[in-house]
Amino acid sequence: MGSTSDWETMQFCVQTLEQLGVACEKRVISAHRTPQLAFEWCGSAEARGLKVIIAAAGGAAHLAGVAAALTPLPVLGVPMESASLKGLDSLLSMVQMPGGVPVGTFAIGKPGAINAALFAGAILALSDPAVKKALDDFRAAQSRKVAESRLP
Ligand code: RP5
Repeated sequence: MGSTSDWETMQFCVQTLEQLGVACEKRVISAHRTPQLAFEWCGSAEARGLKVIIAAAGGAAHLAGVAAALTPLPVLGVPMESASLKGLDSLLSMVQMPGGVPVGTFAIGKPGAINAALFAGAILALSDPAVKKALDDFRAAQSRKVAESRLP
């Protein structure tokens, strides 16, 4: 994520990954405040065995695009809700990548944080039966919860 201020939202991403039993590195790396670190971390991600990168950023949210430029790994972008434009700036910055360097872009804020984790899980589940089972269990529990819900 681009800032510690993103953690309030991205904690839900990490919680969801943990629910799926997916290990993750969680880091604050800014494309504009620590560009050298972004270059080193993203550039070495594949060689270090990472499989998917989830990049969260807000405002002129270029972190996901920079990450995608620096690694062949799939990059999932979570637009943070910004104070001035409620995250529309973040969303458009991420989703409007020019053709050739894709960023899989999710919803603004908490729903996007959760769905990015689930999507990363779905990618990993293609080659990891334990993650596939965790995802199937997650879906089943979610369906059960809705089916059993009662209104006052
Ligand atoms: C982006 O700027 C971060 O991802 C964050 O969402 C936004 C604001 O950062 P702070 O000024 O709160 O550190 O780089």
